[in-house]
Amino acid sequence: MVIKQVELQHVCGITSKLPDTGQVEVAFAGKSNVGKSSLINALMNRKSLARTSAQPGKTQTINYYHINEEMYLVDLPGYGFARASEEVKAKWGKLIEDYLHQSKMLHAVFLLIDIRHAPSNNDRIMYDWILRNGYQPIIIATKLDKIKRSQLQKQIKLIRETLEVEKDTIVIPFSAETKQGREEIWNLIDEIRSD
Ligand code: GTP
Ligand code: MG
Repeated sequence: MVIKQVELQHVCGITSKLPDTGQVEVAFAGKSNVGKSSLINALMNRKSLARTSAQPGKTQTINYYHINEEMYLVDLPGYGFARASEEVKAKWGKLIEDYLHQSKMLHAVFLLIDIRHAPSNNDRIMYDWILRNGYQPIIIATKLDKIKRSQLQKQIKLIRETLEVEKDTIVIPFSAETKQGREEIWNLIDEIRSD
């Protein structure tokens, strides 16, 4: 995909009505701080259009980035943010769930997992949820630059085994620092759009 135009078009909080975009949406889910907004910036060739932070809990709304006026990258709030109150956690959870249930144009959900760690219980719940709702799960193993090359296969295996992923599920290692994996992710999105 050649990026000609990007725009943050919709920002939805817990009281917002979710928009009917009428164009293909792909969403990015994962625990707080895993790198969802950083990945979206890398895909858009922007440094900071999607706001990122070293502190977890940065993205608290559902943000729709319109790409070339033809499709949307959807940035979701992170889950598992330990310092948030139970009430806030429940609200974010509901926001994510409502989106995944209600979007008519959602074609695929990218689940981001930090390549350094085994997936958490919440990650498993999210993965199963994606499958159960009939979406194609694609796993992005983030922060690839933080491990040694020699650890890569072991960490990918750990992710596949902990999530009990199906054989044909794709796991793409990615780094927002080096942009490694970016082309592969765009190729996949292009495929998803033309399905
Ligand atoms: P929430 O909005 O809180 O759910 O977080 P998020 O998943 O959107 O994470 P975000 O993109 O804000 O990144 C969190 C932190 O991780 C930031 O300090 C980023 O700079 C850093 N980060 C993200 N991706 C990478 C990566 O590939 N490599 C390295 N080294 N750091 C990264
Ligand atoms: Mg974010």
